[in-house]
Amino acid sequence: MRAAIIGGTGFDTLEGVHLRSELVQTPYGEVSLFRGEKEWEDIFFLPRHGTTHSIPPHRINYRANIKALHQLGVTHVLATLAVGSISAHLPPGSLVAVDQFLDFTQNRENTFFNGGKEGFAHTLMSYPYCPALRQRLIDLGTAMGLKISPKGTYVCTNGPRLETAAEIRMFSILGGDVVGMTGVPEAPLARELGLHYAALAYSINWAAGVESGKEITFIEEGLGALKKNILKLFLQTLQSSEFATCDCESARLTFHPPEEERA
Ligand code: HPA
Repeated sequence: MRAAIIGGTGFDTLEGVHLRSELVQTPYGEVSLFRGEKEWEDIFFLPRHGTTHSIPPHRINYRANIKALHQLGVTHVLATLAVGSISAHLPPGSLVAVDQFLDFTQNRENTFFNGGKEGFAHTLMSYPYCPALRQRLIDLGTAMGLKISPKGTYVCTNGPRLETAAEIRMFSILGGDVVGMTGVPEAPLARELGLHYAALAYSINWAAGVESGKEITFIEEGLGALKKNILKLFLQTLQSSEFATCDCESARLTFHPPEEERA
């Protein structure tokens, strides 16, 4: 099984894994990523913000990233998501195996199926994250002694600005638990190509206005250990060879082939 880790903020390298850098050409642009060496040959590492952490959330080439992994034969993807906490039961430092998202992004290329040459498709998104990969992540994390919330709704904003307190209040009313800027369209694009994709959110702050009257502050304490544990958990999870069955590979509900194929 070929697998990849997509690293968000705070995850610019894979400690303890020998990596070599690689450039992948896709129809959507070039992607710079890393391939594991020796016993890690089947693991790829893609730092979402670029190898020098220079790409802001709204400018990430999500399609190129997911297409590159697909071209490399990757079937399973685990991603980290730095988030702010909206729900009171998820204080900064919490880990959440998100199971739903609310999409508040704008102007992002969010599909591989734009009609014309690509044809178009409607992809099932009722449960956007791979249930089998999520469950394995939760089980192994729990066995490692990590506290992982097994459910949580991720709100994706466009960024790069942070939210207003009123926006966070609205997200809370809508059922949002955590807020970040990069989880969408990454997850739906992975689903469009039939990849098994799950994401672990780790909270680094209370979202705007949650602590009434206080400005946002990002935690630093304990973050180093938390990040090490997340990577250890991801590597263990991706080395599991057996996953429960799921429908990720057949989530494309209807597919309208390109015009020339229909003629
Ligand atoms: N809002 C949006 N994205 C984030 C936050 C936040 O509060 N914290 C980390 N990423």
